[in-house]
Amino acid sequence: MLKIVVTGGCGFIGSHLVERLAGAGHKVVVYDTSPPPPDLPLDGMDNVRHVRGDVIDTSSLAAVITPDVDLIYHLSAMVGVDRYLRQPLDVIDVNVLGTRNVLRLALAADAQVVVASTSEVYGKNPQVPWSEDSDRVLGGTSADRWTYSTSKALAEHMTFAMAREHGLQATVVRYFNVYGPRQRSAYVVSRSVRRVLTGHAPEMYDSGAQTRCFTYVDDAIEGTVRAASSPAAQGECFNIGSHQETSVSEVIRLVRKIAGFTGGNDTLDTGVAFGAVYQDIERRIPETTKARTALGWQCAVPLEEGITRTIEWARRNPWWLRGPFD
Ligand SMILES: NC(=O)c1ccc[n+]([C@@H]2O[C@H](COP(=O)([O-])OP(=O)(O)OC[C@H]3O[C@@H](n4cnc5c(N)ncnc54)[C@H](O)[C@@H]3O)[C@@H](O)[C@H]2O)c1
Repeated sequence: MLKIVVTGGCGFIGSHLVERLAGAGHKVVVYDTSPPPPDLPLDGMDNVRHVRGDVIDTSSLAAVITPDVDLIYHLSAMVGVDRYLRQPLDVIDVNVLGTRNVLRLALAADAQVVVASTSEVYGKNPQVPWSEDSDRVLGGTSADRWTYSTSKALAEHMTFAMAREHGLQATVVRYFNVYGPRQRSAYVVSRSVRRVLTGHAPEMYDSGAQTRCFTYVDDAIEGTVRAASSPAAQGECFNIGSHQETSVSEVIRLVRKIAGFTGGNDTLDTGVAFGAVYQDIERRIPETTKARTALGWQCAVPLEEGITRTIEWARRNPWWLRGPFD
């Protein structure tokens, strides 16, 4: 049994990770500025403690990352296109300063760290699939869209530097379009599910021809946990994503079919809605040989199955359906 801190443990991926770790009997401290999701009452769980705090606040964070902590999963971040277009400075502060704080305290506590990163670090590199060493290809700094990618890349650089220069036990996982229960409605699967289950037409950005490799949250959690427990993962980073390249229009079609929605689609012209600061990525595909070889990990949940589970969960959780569209 380990003592584990999960930053961002009240968020989408973090809350699933907390459930998994608590279920395995670990002692878990959740550190997050947000309250837990209504269907995961952390206060009722014996081996879980929720501390409400900000990763930028070093003294509050230091009270949680103490020398008895074995492992930290650092997931707290400002995530989502809506946020990096509206709050680019907060994105940079939380993702860079917050990560620096977590890494420094982890080193002082002699704790191991797994840092959540993103496929966004590859930017718009047209040469897919992306292996872990692929180039980062970004647009200019006048487009706020790249603040997230850049902040996460800097978080990765800090992690690798701390591992190399100071011997920090650290691993980076780069998630690719994770979806599933509890996700904010700012993403194509969660947004389409909420829309069709509340009688609204799904909203397709532009032509819907852009492709993604949608990764069910349970698969992402499995990859994350394996990254923490594998000695070969120290100082390394891993793409954690599905191989099933799917267009946005196809994923919307699947949501409609599984939910039994018969109405049409709405379309959103991102150039008009968001302006030039928004730059979409045509194809986003991971090369996952490294995770398969070093962690013995690959996705197990096909897209149709994952969407079905997400819709079934949403039907059982009206609090989520009642939420505003992000
Ligand atoms: N969902 C995806 O598809 C995806 C893809 C790539 C990477 N990621 C990464 O995975 C991690 C989790 O993402 P998610 O989808 O669960 O996002 P999320 O927004 O649901 O969760 C993030 C959590 O961090 C918390 N948080 C934000 N700022 C904080 C701060 N200053 N101090 C403490 N807590 C703070 C939020 O309250 C939230 O609970 C993030 O690091 C994100 O960059 C997610």
